[in-house]
Amino acid sequence: EITNIFAAILGYLLGSIPFGLLLTRFAGLGDIRSIGSGNIGTTNVLRTGNKGLAAATLLLDVGKAALAVLLARYFWGELPAMIAGVFAFLGHCFPAWLGFRGGKGVATYIGILLVLFWPVGLIFCAVWLIIAFAQRYSSLAALTASVTAPLFAYAFSGVALAITCTLITLVLMFQHRTNIARLLAGTETKIGAAKAARK
Ligand code: G3P
Repeated sequence: EITNIFAAILGYLLGSIPFGLLLTRFAGLGDIRSIGSGNIGTTNVLRTGNKGLAAATLLLDVGKAALAVLLARYFWGELPAMIAGVFAFLGHCFPAWLGFRGGKGVATYIGILLVLFWPVGLIFCAVWLIIAFAQRYSSLAALTASVTAPLFAYAFSGVALAITCTLITLVLMFQHRTNIARLLAGTETKIGAAKAARK
């Protein structure tokens, strides 16, 4: 179906807008990729010490993914909406404009889930918050929420959403490979740690 290809392109284009990089650059903070973990996401924008900018990054990264899925569903239907979601995720993680080196996809995943099937999106946020408050690791919270998402998707929605979530979770885990190594080594940075120094 040609509409599936349209959905993939729409998803990729919206998903690949690197809001964390753009906002920190416009705020005069330099290149976010040379700060903290080097990631372009909310967690690392928070390491600049600017909470407003971090909140804006979160909202815009959630919003771009939600918009991609909403538009694809409105114009073409449910399968294209899922395809738009997966490609928005790929766009965020592998943006052509940044040499295919993008973010880790946590906010993007939330935006996709909130539109595809909001109860699973809310559960994702709840799991993230519980682990984040209990363990103070953003990456561990994201990994836990992501690994459980396909199970909740299967239980509360069905096979289609479970497959969509499984694909996204596998890419998210790959993007978190250095975080996983740091978690295992006990060297991962905790939320609320001192403002990161420029590398
Ligand atoms: O949301 C991204 C988070 O899971 C890890 O980010 O900057 O600590 O690598 P960071």
